[in-house]
Amino acid sequence: MSSTIVPPVSTRIDTQALTRIGKGTPMGDFMRQYWIPAILSSELVADREPVRLMLLGEKLIAFRDSNGKAAVMDERCPHRGVSLFMGRVEDGGIRCVYHGWKFLADGTCVDMPSVPEQQQCKHLVKARAYPTRECGGVIWAYLGDRAEPPSMPLIEAAMLPAQEVNVYCLQRECNYLQMAESDLDTSHFGFLHLGCLEPDDFPPDNPLRFAAENRAPEFASSEMPWGTSYGAHRAASDGQRYWRVANFLFPFWTQTPQGDFSDHIDARAFVPMDDHHTMMFHFSWARKSRPLVVEDNNGKPLPGLKNNNELLPNTTDWFGRWRPIANPSNDWLIDRDMQRNGVTFSGLDNIRTQDQAAVESMGPIVDHALEHLVPSDQMVGKTRRRMVKALQRFVEQKVSPPGVDDPEVFAAARSGFFVADAQVDWPDVYHDRARSLQHPAAETSTSPA
Ligand code: FES
Ligand SMILES: [Fe+2]
Repeated sequence: MSSTIVPPVSTRIDTQALTRIGKGTPMGDFMRQYWIPAILSSELVADREPVRLMLLGEKLIAFRDSNGKAAVMDERCPHRGVSLFMGRVEDGGIRCVYHGWKFLADGTCVDMPSVPEQQQCKHLVKARAYPTRECGGVIWAYLGDRAEPPSMPLIEAAMLPAQEVNVYCLQRECNYLQMAESDLDTSHFGFLHLGCLEPDDFPPDNPLRFAAENRAPEFASSEMPWGTSYGAHRAASDGQRYWRVANFLFPFWTQTPQGDFSDHIDARAFVPMDDHHTMMFHFSWARKSRPLVVEDNNGKPLPGLKNNNELLPNTTDWFGRWRPIANPSNDWLIDRDMQRNGVTFSGLDNIRTQDQAAVESMGPIVDHALEHLVPSDQMVGKTRRRMVKALQRFVEQKVSPPGVDDPEVFAAARSGFFVADAQVDWPDVYHDRARSLQHPAAETSTSPA
């Protein structure tokens, strides 16, 4: 006699569950509550060919119709499943090349030329299209189920007008969470990026010298309405402390200290293409443009601190857009001589490639059970716990994820560095500094003509 043991269905949410984003998974449904950056505005030209777009594990196409309206819809034609990537974008919609059916950006079927007049049934067919918005140089999509999508998240850098914000994309071959966590792991900075540099390699006014002076800073971190926040702090001169502040914002955003607190705003979205590929959207605004290299006292570029990287030409493949030339298949072009001779710590000459190599080398999805997190990883641990709690409430109590129905919580989050009186402790030091900040739009509107 044989018996079948049916394993109990597990409803337990653990940190590894945060990494699975397919439709129907807890985290996949959680993410679909939010507006999501989908594709750069500049990638879609009215009445030009569609783009293959992989988003949250779904195969989609994106195009811009004759009126400039951006469309994001299921790749499959609702008639017999032919790919609409092959479609003709014309006269305000897209026409499938198999039987010529035509759909508007919202999925409405407006032409069925293969069907005799008396058998027309356009009103019964709709392509699965998602609502879109355009903001900050990016087309956003809402992949959730609400008939009326929520408001856009009020993330400072991402809500700027397109002409004021700098935005670019970069694809990486790994899970979104390990990419986002790299931004929350400030203790790698003194090694991966600055490991072979000494404080005096930097000009006296460059605060990176503090990071080279003390490579094991102290941390404070806390839960915030938008997610989590940390301040890494080190002694500076004259009874002051040097703070570097960063944030995690639900569901996949980070803000890193890329400049002075009052002089730049910054946000990165780590948008899952699928469980193993992520598209980063980096939005930034700075009072003065940020150099692509960091220079020493004599104006010479410091090794390993370039802040750009070369990309392959975009292709039409599902994973063909915004891919660096340095990638796992060529060991990120690591230069062992450079590493051995102490020119750079990593053997990689570029900050972006250094971060990329670190997170991709973990594999497509890092196994949390094999990690050994220590106090300097507190932001990683705290953020995972905050995410698990929010996900558990969403799954069990149907509570909306943070910021979905109260998008203004994101507006108060800003990253950056500053020097403050050593007596002021975390998080007061953050709130004190944040109170004096002005949004760039406010500055523009109050500045003299
Ligand atoms: S499969 Fe698209 S019109 Fe028939
Ligand atoms: Fe880094």
